[in-house]
Amino acid sequence: MNTTTSVLAALALAALAHLPARADDHGRAIVLPPAYVQECGACHAPYPPGLLPNESWQRLMANLPTHFGTDASLDAPTQKALSTWLTATAGSGKRARVAPPEDRITRGDWFIREHREVPKAAWTRASIKSAANCGACHDGAAQGMYDEDSVHIPR
Ligand code: HEC
Ligand code: HEC
Repeated sequence: MNTTTSVLAALALAALAHLPARADDHGRAIVLPPAYVQECGACHAPYPPGLLPNESWQRLMANLPTHFGTDASLDAPTQKALSTWLTATAGSGKRARVAPPEDRITRGDWFIREHREVPKAAWTRASIKSAANCGACHDGAAQGMYDEDSVHIPR
């Protein structure tokens, strides 16, 4: 390629590298909106919407004042905007075929299968605390990134 096209290609790559776009459970790239990262990533990782069916997200969003023993309420406009975004990006692949117990990603069949190699005792280590604490093991959890290359199980 000539100089101009290679410069353009390099620029395009640089731009891609900075995009907070990540893949959902079947490879579609999605961008986590700032409001989602801020509000739903405050106490835990901003979970990828593709890992639960819309039914689960809507139930979670309808019950934020009593959210797993805590109050995760939002103002009405933010709640509406995030609910709409979750409906648009909810899982439609095999990882989100059925609503898991308690609408927990961590109780889905695929999650349990995918995490078989994690020793049972590891889940409750002080460095991990809970399976819902994705970021303890997945370095990219804050960006919604869960590829196999960025996993480590802390001691
Ligand atoms: C005030 C803190 C707080 C906020 C804000 C919050 N959550 Fe949570 N969330 C929790 C706690 C605590 C749990 C349970 C974690 C555990 O079991 O270790 C949880 C669990 C979850 C789970 C289930 C995780 C699993 O086990 O698979 C989902 C899904 C979830 N939250 C979604 C959301 C969404 C969507 C929002 C934004 C609207 C949100 N959360 C905002 C505290 C919060
Ligand atoms: C105790 C450490 C640990 C925690 C906590 C954890 N994971 Fe994992 N996760 C792993 C390991 C180990 C694998 C297997 C990686 C491999 O296949 O080499 C894995 C695999 C995955 C995969 C499949 C990756 C792929 O490319 O095949 C996904 C998706 C995933 N985890 C999502 C999550 C989510 C979402 C959470 C939180 C709700 C979470 N994990 C919590 C350790 C953990």
